[in-house]
Amino acid sequence: MAPMAGISDHPYRLLTRQFGAAYSITEFVNAIDVLSGHPYLVTQRLAFSDRERPIAIQLFDDQPDRLVLAAKVIASYHPDIIDINMGCSVKKVSNRGAGAGLLREPLKVAKIFSDLSRTINVPITAKIRLGWDYPSRNYLEIARIIEENGGQLIAVHARTRKQGYGGKADWNAIAEIKSRAGIPIVGNGDVKSLNDIGRMFAQTGCDAIMIGRAAIGNPWIFKQVEKQDLELNEIVHIASQHLSMMCTFYGEPVAFQLFRKHAGKYFNPSLLTKEQRKSFYDIQSIDQFVHTIKSTYSADQQT
Ligand SMILES: Cc1cc2nc3c(=O)[nH]c(=O)nc-3n(C[C@H](O)[C@H](O)[C@H](O)COP(=O)(O)O)c2cc1C
Repeated sequence: MAPMAGISDHPYRLLTRQFGAAYSITEFVNAIDVLSGHPYLVTQRLAFSDRERPIAIQLFDDQPDRLVLAAKVIASYHPDIIDINMGCSVKKVSNRGAGAGLLREPLKVAKIFSDLSRTINVPITAKIRLGWDYPSRNYLEIARIIEENGGQLIAVHARTRKQGYGGKADWNAIAEIKSRAGIPIVGNGDVKSLNDIGRMFAQTGCDAIMIGRAAIGNPWIFKQVEKQDLELNEIVHIASQHLSMMCTFYGEPVAFQLFRKHAGKYFNPSLLTKEQRKSFYDIQSIDQFVHTIKSTYSADQQT
């Protein structure tokens, strides 16, 4: 499963691993917060269990020295991998040169990977995009620099920073990177169905596939089961298991609030009336949630 802030937290990672996802990657973590010892990091973002291994903790920053200091702190949590975010397109991150902003500074990328791989005794990987915008696509150069400076795996979200999440992912670019790389390449972008998994492997030759948005509300994709083939009862059962895991991790009121994002993907609320939608999102207990779902959806309405 792709790292997704607000989605791929400890409970959802555990669930998707039970369904067959290959390894866990945390939501991105700001190196500045790591160094300031932000309490939210320790209790939430950096929380993982041994059942998740192999686990990668993903860091973002634009300063090589700070990344090294933060990676030293992160290494004390004993992850199996430290991943550097070079794909975040959010303005607040990329405009200050972090996330996809790093793609504009190949020399800095070289320093980051060389410093990290020399000083940190944990494999360092990267998650990149194809470039800042179409004219400046530099993915081959960036991938080469990462590999030459000790990076051990590259996940490629096959869009530019400018594309955000729109347009189409360019899988041919993943194939180009894979054909030149000596390290594993993970393909990412627009894998929405089981059919897409086969197509991406065939078209790119990549070593693994990373699934983001299509995995929200759909852990079954990791079991290679089509959600449309499931009974409503199975979806309700897993969604309530997920909600219960979130309650254990966050405590009830927070979990109910955070689960809304998932609920809207497990079940399609656009099929509901305004009144139904209100009760659907107004979760007060797991039993009430299950009851609401079952009473508002008939089997032929499920997504
Ligand atoms: C809600 C959301 C949060 C995301 N957060 C992160 C993140 O923390 N780190 C990261 O590397 N990518 C993040 N991404 C990007 C995804 O990992 C992935 O590259 C992107 O969604 C494309 O894959 P997809 O087409 O399968 O969704 C996020 C994407 C979404 C939709």
